[in-house]
Amino acid sequence: MNKPIIRTEKLTKIYENGYQTVALQDVDLEIPRGSLSCIMGPSGHGKSTLLHLIGGLDRPTSGKVFLDDLDLTAIDANRLAEVRCRRIGFVFQFFNLLPMLTVLENVEIALMLAGVPPKEQHERARELLALVGLEDKHHARPNQLSGGQRQRVAIARSLANDPDILLMDEPSGNLDSKSEQELLRNIENVNQQGKTVVIITHSPTVATVAQRIFYIQDGRLKNE
Ligand SMILES: Nc1ncnc2c1ncn2[C@@H]1O[C@H](COP(=O)(O)OP(=O)(O)OP(=O)(O)O)[C@@H](O)[C@H]1O
Ligand SMILES: [Mg+2]
Repeated sequence: MNKPIIRTEKLTKIYENGYQTVALQDVDLEIPRGSLSCIMGPSGHGKSTLLHLIGGLDRPTSGKVFLDDLDLTAIDANRLAEVRCRRIGFVFQFFNLLPMLTVLENVEIALMLAGVPPKEQHERARELLALVGLEDKHHARPNQLSGGQRQRVAIARSLANDPDILLMDEPSGNLDSKSEQELLRNIENVNQQGKTVVIITHSPTVATVAQRIFYIQDGRLKNE
């Protein structure tokens, strides 16, 4: 069997702000390479915490996260940032697009940050926007787009560093069902290009495209 691209071992996160919140406890999880997986579960039960830990955005209280053979909990902050920048793309629930820039510029700036040579940024941004069906919106600003279109810009942008893992936190949380369907087609398209995709979702529709569903309750992984 293929080795998983992400594996966690007894992953635990306890937040301390005056009192303790056990957000995640002893989670052992394996994400197959090239798969499309969903993380589901009630609000406040640890899903975003888990996604942030496997993406190296935060550190666990205890336990380990392996990206292939690399233990993300054993490397320093600089190295972690470098791994994130090279291998992982994030899509957040609330887009985080830069409002003063056009759609094309939002993607170009991500390419610049990913170290793509200036001469290639423009062409590559056009390619990424074509991938999410936004070739006619290059010059629009985010506030001139629908929620679904903004989310698709966020996906194009998250692919700037050509990551092999795409982590999405409720990408369709604000969308109507038609926009959600369109977004799903884009996500499946990205997955079919060989990227491993992990989506946190409350949506049964999104869950139908997943090859694997992880259910988190009270900070623990429930057995399927
Ligand atoms: N930075 C933080 N400091 C303290 N507690 C936190 C912090 N972030 C999250 N928590 C707590 O940890 C628990 C898990 O939060 P998390 O954001 O992972 O939930 P979630 O499953 O993503 O919920 P939702 O579906 O509402 O997004 C919650 O009780 C939350 O209040
Ligand atoms: Mg969350």
